[in-house]
Amino acid sequence: MSRPWWQQAVIYHMYPRSFMDSNGDGIGDLRGILSKLDYLEWLGVDLLWLCPVFPSPNVDNGYDVSNYCDISPEFGTLADFDLLLAELHRRGMRLMIDLVINHTSDRHPWFIESRSTRSSPRRNWYIWRDGRDGAPPNNWESIFLGPAWTRDDATGQYYLHLFSAHQPDLNWDNPEVRAALCSVACWWLARGVDGFRLDAITHLKKQPGLPDLPDPDGTGCVPSYEAHMNIPGVLDFVHEFARESFRRHDAIALGEANGVSSAQALEWVGTGRGPLDMILQFEHWTMWSSHPHDPLHVPTLRRILGKWQQALQGKGWNALYIENTELPRVISRWGDVGTLRNQSATALATMYFLMQGTPLIYQGQELGMANTTFHDLSVFNDVFSRNRIEQMRAAGQMDDEILAELALTSRDNARTPMPWSDAPQGGFTTGEPWLPLNPEYPAVNVASQQQDPGSVLAYYRKLIRLRRQEAPLIDGRYVEICKRNRRIYAYVREAADGSAIAVICNLSPHPASYRHREWILCHPDLLLSNLSVAPHDDTHSLRLRPFEARVYRVRRRTASD
Ligand code: NOJ
Ligand code: CA
Repeated sequence: MSRPWWQQAVIYHMYPRSFMDSNGDGIGDLRGILSKLDYLEWLGVDLLWLCPVFPSPNVDNGYDVSNYCDISPEFGTLADFDLLLAELHRRGMRLMIDLVINHTSDRHPWFIESRSTRSSPRRNWYIWRDGRDGAPPNNWESIFLGPAWTRDDATGQYYLHLFSAHQPDLNWDNPEVRAALCSVACWWLARGVDGFRLDAITHLKKQPGLPDLPDPDGTGCVPSYEAHMNIPGVLDFVHEFARESFRRHDAIALGEANGVSSAQALEWVGTGRGPLDMILQFEHWTMWSSHPHDPLHVPTLRRILGKWQQALQGKGWNALYIENTELPRVISRWGDVGTLRNQSATALATMYFLMQGTPLIYQGQELGMANTTFHDLSVFNDVFSRNRIEQMRAAGQMDDEILAELALTSRDNARTPMPWSDAPQGGFTTGEPWLPLNPEYPAVNVASQQQDPGSVLAYYRKLIRLRRQEAPLIDGRYVEICKRNRRIYAYVREAADGSAIAVICNLSPHPASYRHREWILCHPDLLLSNLSVAPHDDTHSLRLRPFEARVYRVRRRTASD
């Protein structure tokens, strides 16, 4: 079956600020990325997702855009961008940029104009309301904490911001706003980009009337997701945007889709039906964030990911990920950063990478990077972490309590610079890095892992190659097996011609047994394993060591077996 290119691709998710610095100012940049394209090619990825590189005051590191049609000087120039795009294309790779269109920076000229007077022609480009007796227009809390409204002295009204006060929400009900954002997308498409990652795309529509939410505890300001996440009408906006921009080109769109359930997914990405090609779902992420201390509960993970696999089987396409700029490093969360480090990094990798969908690798994940160590609250850069520090301090909490929480949750964990070698500052910069390197860099870095066939990096390369070589890993159905096992996550990818591959991962620090009668393991066809394996004859069962993962060619049992 011939598949669109992006279904066969592996995406590399890049945080450019931390990837590679070319000029010693401590900030990663486009020329730095250019200098590392050999690495990306060697790794075998083919689609680059670049987090925002537009001019920005960097309250939220680029997710607060002050000019959509330029490159931030700290990252380079439009000429550098064009060169990067051309070089990627020359190597057969593609580029997806991150469009942040739910909100702008408060320094964007549109907002500056909008806030200037109540009669500004751009007033209605944002969401302005009168306060209520000195209080905000409603009781919504922003996603980055504190009220979702800020009063602006110039006109005495409040503007809505679902994220920080420096990220005012655009008013998508206004057709002029929608047309302006389509023009932005078309401008980049004309430049040759291959697609967009659409930031916070499920938040474009707010509940009509912007009503107060129930506040049984009388806190005055309550989490407000239900009032602005996947609200009826949002898909109309996204369909229009798709029709007027990337659907006119051979470009793709990957939406950040908090609040979309697997049951709703086809409306977003159903083949021939949804406006987008893929979405980043949030369900397995929430599993961790609501219980940051709990070890991985395999049955819950299987239930969530399995649900997404089934929901899109033959009708849509998944985006597969276990790390990003928002989450702590996966091995610190679900793996073992001690003696089982390599095994746990590679077992978790095997588990998600070979499912149905397009896998994403977030920079540093391919090295098995762990969370960093924060000794001091002043080191935190992430706007959410900084707001949380203020909130906890205001509640009387001590610095060590705050540090303990942020060590587990801060977005800065995954944003430390890429360790390229054991040279000073990991070879990332010759200057002072904008965020300290993870102190593990002398041991955990690209150069040393490139030399080591047993490294996490070498294993990711093998995974990428395997997915490319074995058609069932792209086209095959996802068939869940060992459904009741509490340690092993196992599934088969079964192609229409009957060829099948089993992916069997012990995701626990204990030994675990795999037993299955329906599928016959063909030992000579052990396609991949993260620990060395002695040949054995049993075609039905395995005893797996802690965090051991194996990938076998298998066949269904027949009457003659
Ligand atoms: C989601 C992005 O992943 C995150 O980094 C950003 O802070 C918010 N959207 C706001 O744009
Ligand atoms: Ca730089």
